[in-house]
Amino acid sequence: MKFFIDTANIQEIRDAARLGILDGVTTNPSLVAKEGRRFEDVIAAICTIVDGPISAEVTALDLDGMLSQGRALAKIHKNVTIKVPLTKEGLRACKALREEGTHVNVTLCFSPAQALLAAKCNATFISPFVGRLDDVATEGMELIRQIRAIYDNYGFTTQILTASIRHPIHVVDAALAGADVGTMPYKVMLQLYEHPLTDVGLKKFLEDWEKVGRVKS
Ligand code: E4P
Repeated sequence: MKFFIDTANIQEIRDAARLGILDGVTTNPSLVAKEGRRFEDVIAAICTIVDGPISAEVTALDLDGMLSQGRALAKIHKNVTIKVPLTKEGLRACKALREEGTHVNVTLCFSPAQALLAAKCNATFISPFVGRLDDVATEGMELIRQIRAIYDNYGFTTQILTASIRHPIHVVDAALAGADVGTMPYKVMLQLYEHPLTDVGLKKFLEDWEKVGRVKS
Protein backbone atom coordinates (compact mmCIF):
# COMPACT_ATOMS: atom_id res chain seq x y z
CA MET A 1 0.00 0.00 0.00
CA LYS A 2 1.28 3.45 -0.87
CA PHE A 3 1.51 6.01 1.95
CA PHE A 4 0.47 9.61 1.30
CA ILE A 5 0.61 12.35 3.91
CA ASP A 6 -2.57 14.37 4.38
CA THR A 7 -1.33 17.88 5.10
CA ALA A 8 -0.23 21.14 3.48
CA ASN A 9 2.34 21.82 6.19
CA ILE A 10 5.79 22.01 4.61
CA GLN A 11 7.70 21.04 7.75
CA GLU A 12 5.57 17.93 8.29
CA ILE A 13 6.01 16.96 4.64
CA ARG A 14 9.80 17.38 4.92
CA ASP A 15 9.86 15.28 8.11
CA ALA A 16 7.67 12.58 6.56
CA ALA A 17 9.79 12.49 3.39
CA ARG A 18 12.88 11.79 5.53
CA LEU A 19 11.25 8.60 6.87
CA GLY A 20 11.70 6.95 3.48
CA ILE A 21 8.13 5.61 3.29
CA LEU A 22 6.32 8.53 1.68
CA ASP A 23 4.79 8.10 -1.77
CA GLY A 24 2.67 11.24 -2.18
CA VAL A 25 0.71 14.08 -0.61
CA THR A 26 -2.96 15.00 -0.37
CA THR A 27 -4.16 18.49 0.47
CA ASN A 28 -7.63 19.98 0.69
CA PRO A 29 -8.86 23.59 0.95
CA SER A 30 -9.14 23.35 4.76
CA LEU A 31 -5.56 22.10 5.11
CA VAL A 32 -4.14 24.74 2.74
CA ALA A 33 -6.12 27.53 4.45
CA LYS A 34 -4.42 26.64 7.77
CA GLU A 35 -1.01 27.46 6.27
CA GLY A 36 -1.93 31.08 5.46
CA ARG A 37 -0.01 31.12 2.16
CA ARG A 38 -0.99 31.39 -1.51
CA PHE A 39 -2.42 28.04 -2.66
CA GLU A 40 -0.25 27.75 -5.79
CA ASP A 41 2.91 28.54 -3.77
CA VAL A 42 2.14 25.80 -1.25
CA ILE A 43 1.58 23.22 -4.00
CA ALA A 44 4.75 24.28 -5.85
CA ALA A 45 6.77 24.01 -2.61
CA ILE A 46 5.40 20.53 -1.89
CA CYS A 47 6.37 19.41 -5.41
CA THR A 48 10.01 20.24 -4.67
CA ILE A 49 10.01 17.91 -1.64
CA VAL A 50 8.06 14.82 -2.74
CA ASP A 51 8.42 13.01 -6.04
CA GLY A 52 4.96 11.45 -6.22
CA PRO A 53 1.31 12.41 -6.73
CA ILE A 54 0.43 15.73 -5.04
CA SER A 55 -3.32 16.33 -4.82
CA ALA A 56 -4.48 19.94 -5.27
CA GLU A 57 -8.23 20.55 -4.99
CA VAL A 58 -10.35 22.83 -7.14
CA THR A 59 -12.82 25.09 -5.36
CA ALA A 60 -15.12 25.91 -8.29
CA LEU A 61 -18.41 24.02 -8.37
CA ASP A 62 -19.20 24.35 -12.09
CA LEU A 63 -17.58 22.41 -14.91
CA ASP A 64 -15.89 25.35 -16.62
CA GLY A 65 -14.54 26.69 -13.34
CA MET A 66 -13.19 23.28 -12.34
CA LEU A 67 -11.56 22.79 -15.72
CA SER A 68 -9.89 26.18 -15.72
CA GLN A 69 -8.66 25.82 -12.12
CA GLY A 70 -7.60 22.22 -12.75
CA ARG A 71 -5.66 23.10 -15.90
CA ALA A 72 -3.88 25.97 -14.14
CA LEU A 73 -2.94 23.79 -11.15
CA ALA A 74 -1.75 20.97 -13.42
CA LYS A 75 0.72 23.41 -15.00
CA ILE A 76 2.54 23.86 -11.67
CA HIS A 77 4.25 20.46 -11.87
CA LYS A 78 3.88 17.11 -13.64
CA ASN A 79 3.09 15.43 -10.30
CA VAL A 80 0.05 17.58 -9.53
CA THR A 81 -3.13 15.49 -9.34
CA ILE A 82 -6.32 17.49 -9.59
CA LYS A 83 -8.81 16.83 -6.82
CA VAL A 84 -12.46 17.25 -7.74
CA PRO A 85 -15.54 16.65 -5.58
CA LEU A 86 -17.84 13.71 -6.22
CA THR A 87 -20.61 15.68 -7.90
CA LYS A 88 -22.06 15.50 -11.41
CA GLU A 89 -19.91 18.45 -12.45
CA GLY A 90 -16.89 17.06 -10.64
CA LEU A 91 -17.12 13.77 -12.50
CA ARG A 92 -17.57 15.53 -15.83
CA ALA A 93 -14.43 17.52 -15.03
CA CYS A 94 -12.68 14.28 -14.05
CA LYS A 95 -13.46 12.68 -17.39
CA ALA A 96 -12.37 15.73 -19.38
CA LEU A 97 -9.13 16.21 -17.44
CA ARG A 98 -8.27 12.51 -17.77
CA GLU A 99 -8.77 12.78 -21.55
CA GLU A 100 -6.19 15.59 -21.47
CA GLY A 101 -3.74 13.30 -19.66
CA THR A 102 -4.10 14.90 -16.23
CA HIS A 103 -4.34 12.72 -13.12
CA VAL A 104 -7.50 13.20 -11.06
CA ASN A 105 -8.39 12.32 -7.46
CA VAL A 106 -12.16 12.23 -6.89
CA THR A 107 -12.77 13.26 -3.30
CA LEU A 108 -15.61 13.19 -0.76
CA CYS A 109 -16.72 9.65 -1.65
CA PHE A 110 -19.11 8.11 0.87
CA SER A 111 -20.80 5.26 -1.06
CA PRO A 112 -19.89 2.38 -3.38
CA ALA A 113 -22.23 3.78 -6.04
CA GLN A 114 -20.23 7.03 -6.05
CA ALA A 115 -16.98 5.06 -6.36
CA LEU A 116 -18.40 3.12 -9.32
CA LEU A 117 -19.24 6.41 -11.08
CA ALA A 118 -15.72 7.74 -10.47
CA ALA A 119 -14.18 4.61 -11.98
CA LYS A 120 -16.45 4.94 -15.03
CA CYS A 121 -15.07 8.48 -15.47
CA ASN A 122 -11.54 7.03 -15.37
CA ALA A 123 -10.49 8.69 -12.09
CA THR A 124 -6.87 8.01 -11.17
CA PHE A 125 -7.82 7.87 -7.48
CA ILE A 126 -11.07 7.59 -5.56
CA SER A 127 -10.98 8.99 -2.01
CA PRO A 128 -13.48 7.31 0.34
CA PHE A 129 -13.48 9.11 3.72
CA VAL A 130 -13.49 6.38 6.38
CA GLY A 131 -13.13 8.56 9.49
CA ARG A 132 -16.01 10.83 8.59
CA LEU A 133 -18.25 7.77 8.05
CA ASP A 134 -17.20 6.40 11.45
CA ASP A 135 -18.12 9.81 12.90
CA VAL A 136 -21.73 9.26 11.81
CA ALA A 137 -21.88 5.71 13.19
CA THR A 138 -21.35 3.97 9.83
CA GLU A 139 -18.40 1.60 9.46
CA GLY A 140 -16.08 3.46 7.08
CA MET A 141 -13.88 0.46 6.35
CA GLU A 142 -16.81 -1.51 4.95
CA LEU A 143 -16.89 1.04 2.12
CA ILE A 144 -13.27 0.24 1.24
CA ARG A 145 -14.10 -3.49 1.10
CA GLN A 146 -17.13 -2.85 -1.12
CA ILE A 147 -15.20 -0.62 -3.53
CA ARG A 148 -12.36 -3.18 -3.73
CA ALA A 149 -14.86 -5.90 -4.67
CA ILE A 150 -16.60 -3.76 -7.29
CA TYR A 151 -13.36 -2.56 -8.90
CA ASP A 152 -11.96 -6.12 -8.98
CA ASN A 153 -15.19 -7.47 -10.50
CA TYR A 154 -14.72 -5.23 -13.52
CA GLY A 155 -10.97 -4.66 -13.63
CA PHE A 156 -11.24 -0.91 -12.98
CA THR A 157 -7.78 0.59 -12.56
CA THR A 158 -8.88 3.56 -10.41
CA GLN A 159 -6.79 3.40 -7.24
CA ILE A 160 -8.57 3.28 -3.89
CA LEU A 161 -7.09 6.05 -1.76
CA THR A 162 -8.35 5.56 1.80
CA ALA A 163 -8.84 9.06 3.22
CA SER A 164 -9.92 10.59 6.52
CA ILE A 165 -7.66 8.14 8.35
CA ARG A 166 -7.61 8.94 12.05
CA HIS A 167 -5.49 6.21 13.69
CA PRO A 168 -3.19 3.22 12.95
CA ILE A 169 -6.05 0.69 12.97
CA HIS A 170 -7.54 2.51 9.98
CA VAL A 171 -4.21 2.07 8.16
CA VAL A 172 -3.97 -1.65 8.93
CA ASP A 173 -7.62 -2.31 8.06
CA ALA A 174 -7.27 -0.39 4.79
CA ALA A 175 -4.25 -2.53 3.91
CA LEU A 176 -6.17 -5.72 4.79
CA ALA A 177 -9.06 -4.55 2.62
CA GLY A 178 -6.70 -4.12 -0.32
CA ALA A 179 -6.68 -0.30 -0.58
CA ASP A 180 -4.03 0.96 -2.99
CA VAL A 181 -3.17 4.04 -0.94
CA GLY A 182 -3.71 5.38 2.57
CA THR A 183 -3.46 9.10 3.20
CA MET A 184 -2.90 10.05 6.81
CA PRO A 185 -1.86 12.89 9.09
CA TYR A 186 1.84 12.93 10.07
CA LYS A 187 0.86 12.03 13.63
CA VAL A 188 -0.71 8.74 12.48
CA MET A 189 2.33 7.95 10.32
CA LEU A 190 4.52 8.26 13.42
CA GLN A 191 2.14 6.17 15.52
CA LEU A 192 2.64 3.26 13.09
CA TYR A 193 6.23 2.87 14.33
CA GLU A 194 5.24 2.54 17.98
CA HIS A 195 4.97 -0.65 20.02
CA PRO A 196 5.67 -0.84 23.78
CA LEU A 197 7.35 -4.27 23.38
CA THR A 198 9.83 -2.75 20.93
CA ASP A 199 10.78 -0.13 23.55
CA VAL A 200 10.97 -2.69 26.38
CA GLY A 201 12.95 -5.15 24.25
CA LEU A 202 15.44 -2.54 23.10
CA LYS A 203 15.94 -1.28 26.67
CA LYS A 204 16.64 -4.86 27.85
CA PHE A 205 19.08 -5.58 25.01
CA LEU A 206 21.05 -2.44 25.81
CA GLU A 207 21.05 -3.15 29.57
CA ASP A 208 22.34 -6.71 28.97
CA TRP A 209 24.99 -5.39 26.61
CA GLU A 210 26.13 -2.90 29.23
CA LYS A 211 26.42 -5.67 31.88
CA VAL A 212 28.69 -7.76 29.62
CA GLY A 213 30.74 -4.70 28.83
CA ARG A 214 31.25 -4.08 32.58
CA VAL A 215 32.33 -7.73 33.26
CA LYS A 216 34.97 -7.55 30.50
CA SER A 217 36.51 -4.30 31.69
C1 E4P B 1 -8.30 13.52 1.96
O1 E4P B 1 -7.82 13.81 0.88
C2 E4P B 1 -8.79 14.50 2.91
O2 E4P B 1 -7.94 15.62 2.85
C3 E4P B 1 -8.73 14.04 4.34
O3 E4P B 1 -8.31 12.69 4.43
C4 E4P B 1 -9.90 14.38 5.16
O4 E4P B 1 -9.68 13.95 6.48
P1 E4P B 1 -10.55 14.47 7.72
O5 E4P B 1 -11.88 13.82 7.64
O6 E4P B 1 -9.77 14.00 8.93
O7 E4P B 1 -10.61 15.96 7.61
